[in-house]
Amino acid sequence: MADLRVSLGKITLTNPILTASGTFGTGEEFTPFLNLDRLGGIVTKAVTLEARSGNAHPRIAETPAGMLNSIGLANVGVEAFIREKLPFLNALKCRVFVNVAGKTIDEFAEVIRRIESAGGVDGYELNVSCPNVKEGGMAFGANPEMTAQITEKTRRATDKFITVKLTPNVTSIAEIAVAAEQSGADALTVINTLVGMAVDIHSRKPKLATITGGLSGPAIKPVALAKVFQVVRVVKIPVIASGGVMNVDDVVEFLITGATAVQIGTANFINPKICEQLADELNEFCRLNQIDSIQEIIGTLKLNK
Ligand SMILES: Cc1cc2nc3c(=O)[nH]c(=O)nc-3n(C[C@H](O)[C@H](O)[C@H](O)COP(=O)(O)O)c2cc1C
Repeated sequence: MADLRVSLGKITLTNPILTASGTFGTGEEFTPFLNLDRLGGIVTKAVTLEARSGNAHPRIAETPAGMLNSIGLANVGVEAFIREKLPFLNALKCRVFVNVAGKTIDEFAEVIRRIESAGGVDGYELNVSCPNVKEGGMAFGANPEMTAQITEKTRRATDKFITVKLTPNVTSIAEIAVAAEQSGADALTVINTLVGMAVDIHSRKPKLATITGGLSGPAIKPVALAKVFQVVRVVKIPVIASGGVMNVDDVVEFLITGATAVQIGTANFINPKICEQLADELNEFCRLNQIDSIQEIIGTLKLNK
């Protein structure tokens, strides 16, 4: 067995495979398919202060190399999350990170304060990058000052691990990454979905009720790789990659580019066992390539001179 452990600051993951928020619920529905304790960790669906029903339907559309979604942060709200979901999550051996969203900066901090008093999770992922909600979401994460304020306020609400999830829908992701790092983020998640659109040629209507949505899946992997590359060059904190990972080669590509861990999103809808399989395949990759520890390959990208 190769040593697959990686460190996100103070937190060690048994392997670099994490689930991506919104594509794995809180993991409960996946228990018939895989052993959750084999994952590096779970990142939950976004949790907000109040329950939300999300956007109007249709809110999913398939595209040639991925999917569009406009779910709009549908969730049960923090109190029901604590009551109904947290006991399950607390019993898991893998790391648990709660994805947090809010309409205001204070809402992010309040959600975290409430989960903190219930106790048990390993950290938080701040969703300042959702393209599918009018308030909060991407409008926050596209602005370095706003990103800094959210990070600072939530930093005061917890000593636990905080990763800030960045949007690719900006001119300079590096500027926003630096703002989050300077305001106390322990890590950065790179990237959330890209704004996209699809049209039904028969009805001549957009396929999504919200017209545009977030594009995920293999189509965005090259963009995610480029963004990870741009971010790891300007920050010292770890970067968690998200975007288009479908197989073990994709995982290794992100690690070589400098990501410390990798989230799996859309691929869960195609193969619900994929996260556990990737942990096994990463071990096999190490064996075949005589790599003792996966850390040996992180950030080993060779640039053409
Ligand atoms: C149906 C769906 C729901 C999502 N919900 C969230 C969410 O609640 N919070 C969040 O930060 N990202 C959310 N995302 C973005 C994913 O976590 C991930 O960053 C993105 O899909 C890119 O990864 P992928 O190409 O592997 O899917 C969602 C994505 C999808 C497809």
